[in-house]
Amino acid sequence: MRIAVTGSIATDHLMSYPGRFADQILDDRLDRVSLSFLADRLEIRNGGVAANIALGLARLGTETVLVGAAGKDFTEYGAWLRDNGVDTAHVHISRNHHTARFVCTTDRDHNQVATFYAGAMVEASRATLTSVQERSGALDLAVVAPNDPGAMQSLTRECRRLGIPFAADPSQQLARLTGPETRRLVRGARFLFTNEYEARLLQERTGWSRAEVLCHAETWLVTRGAAGVDIGRAGHPWLHVDAVPVAVPVEPTGVGDAFRAGFLAGIDRGLAYEQAARLGCALASVVIQVIGTQEYKLSGARLLLEIEATYGFSAACELEPHLTPL
Ligand SMILES: Nc1ncnc2c1ncn2[C@@H]1O[C@H](COP(=O)(O)OP(=O)(O)OP(=O)(O)O)[C@@H](O)[C@H]1O
Ligand SMILES: [Mg+2]
Repeated sequence: MRIAVTGSIATDHLMSYPGRFADQILDDRLDRVSLSFLADRLEIRNGGVAANIALGLARLGTETVLVGAAGKDFTEYGAWLRDNGVDTAHVHISRNHHTARFVCTTDRDHNQVATFYAGAMVEASRATLTSVQERSGALDLAVVAPNDPGAMQSLTRECRRLGIPFAADPSQQLARLTGPETRRLVRGARFLFTNEYEARLLQERTGWSRAEVLCHAETWLVTRGAAGVDIGRAGHPWLHVDAVPVAVPVEPTGVGDAFRAGFLAGIDRGLAYEQAARLGCALASVVIQVIGTQEYKLSGARLLLEIEATYGFSAACELEPHLTPL
């Protein structure tokens, strides 16, 4: 399969302030705020949901095209993605904007002051699936992940028009979508991804019951953190897949993206939904144990051990041919 992953491409700049924000904020001067914190640590990490999912898919051996927008500062990040097997030829490079950036300062009490700069993402609708197909051949699936809201709508319309099966992954953007916008993103999706909270939000926005959602999306994957994932399909009982247990979760950011990558890599291999979801959970368990969403090491042997310990010998045997080349 050749999968296009559309959505945000961003870098995270994370700083630590050894003091307390509260000690610098003057209650009687809140109408004229002028604050500067001397941070003593800076970590710069590659992220953005589309880049995270694309990297996971490529590392599991699926042919993956990243479709989104970045700035001129994308050179090094682009090279990193290509080194990991992602096709970045269809990333639109903005002349005027930097790559989207999340800048966050955390104080010693874990309070945070953060800003998300959308930057080049406002030009995301200039990277189209039509041009991907014209320039480099047919796509078998497109993921529509959080992105510029207009681009999410236009990419979904393109999928329908071009007959490309698509996975709707509105996640963080659900909060700002209207009911009609949400319904348009979901109608006709081959896969719909949400976590539990987003599942409730999606029902509230669309006004659809769980059963009605399944009349519009073929397969709905609801991830439930350490409780694993539920898979719904119209006319079938819900299927549950346990998470791969993790003794010490280090950082949850990016686990949802890792699940999507593992699951879709499984679909690419022709695995049944249950097995594909197990692969998704296994990849998520790797990502949750490291800081950063893309810096994890991948070992097929280790994934297999975790899969066998969680899902048993026969599940591991079925997945083995797909994981040993890693
Ligand atoms: N504590 C955990 N232990 C083991 N696996 C976990 C844990 N948390 C999450 N996972 C795995 O990751 C998958 C996705 O998790 P979750 O439902 O928290 O996604 P999410 O809320 O979209 O996360 P994020 O948006 O932060 O990436 C789960 O289905 C599970 O397989
Ligand atoms: Mg998520």
